[in-house]
Amino acid sequence: MKKHNNVTVLDHPLICHKIAILRDEKTSTKQFRELVEEITTLVTYEAFKDVPTQEVEVKTPLVTCKQRMIPENSIAVVPVLRAGLGMVAGVHTLFPTAKVGHIGMYRDEETLQPREYYCKLPDGIENMRVIVLDPMLATGGSACAAIEQLKARGCRDIHQMSIIAAPEGIDKLAEAHPDVKIFVAVVDEKLNENGYILPGLGDAGDRLFGTK
Ligand code: PRP
Ligand code: URA
Repeated sequence: MKKHNNVTVLDHPLICHKIAILRDEKTSTKQFRELVEEITTLVTYEAFKDVPTQEVEVKTPLVTCKQRMIPENSIAVVPVLRAGLGMVAGVHTLFPTAKVGHIGMYRDEETLQPREYYCKLPDGIENMRVIVLDPMLATGGSACAAIEQLKARGCRDIHQMSIIAAPEGIDKLAEAHPDVKIFVAVVDEKLNENGYILPGLGDAGDRLFGTK
């Protein structure tokens, strides 16, 4: 992986521990779902570090004071279907009022090119901080296509949040969209000849939804 100043790799012991269990082929669908949610919550804490806040007045039982809060309607998460869906609850654990948009995308198995099949975004998303959710950043094709779609809809403040990334995917996304901050829990070794991340965890969608 090249050096990029828009990329944050969390590499935290708690996250590494949970990812080790996530990767294990013996981990059940139920536990896999729970781990994706928990890891997402931990990454969310870091990714929200620079979220804009505004001053509000709060009346305590004693006095009125000025506090800072995240404004209403200022954050949207956009899971890339299917696997991104597994991350939504992890963000909502910390910030339950985040709006949710959906982009449906699958990789053509031959060409590995992303194909979009669904897009439904919240009204006013162009004025929000938008966080794209996808546990796997492999070639980076799906993330780039989702971000291009969001930019075409007028979004200008976009973050990408993933759990496992391949160096190839990070390089592609960071170079194509230097304005997008990328948060990943861990960076793996490489892609195999079929575009799967090694060591990776296999097909995230299938493991989350028990489809194989
Ligand atoms: C997976 C994953 C990403 C994409 C990553 O989805 O959830 O969206 O592959 O690969 P890329 O970085 O090379 O584009 P997949 O296409 O398998 O669809 P699914 O979630 O519906 O199974
Ligand atoms: N998508 C996945 O679900 N896993 C990979 O390793 C690559 C793309």
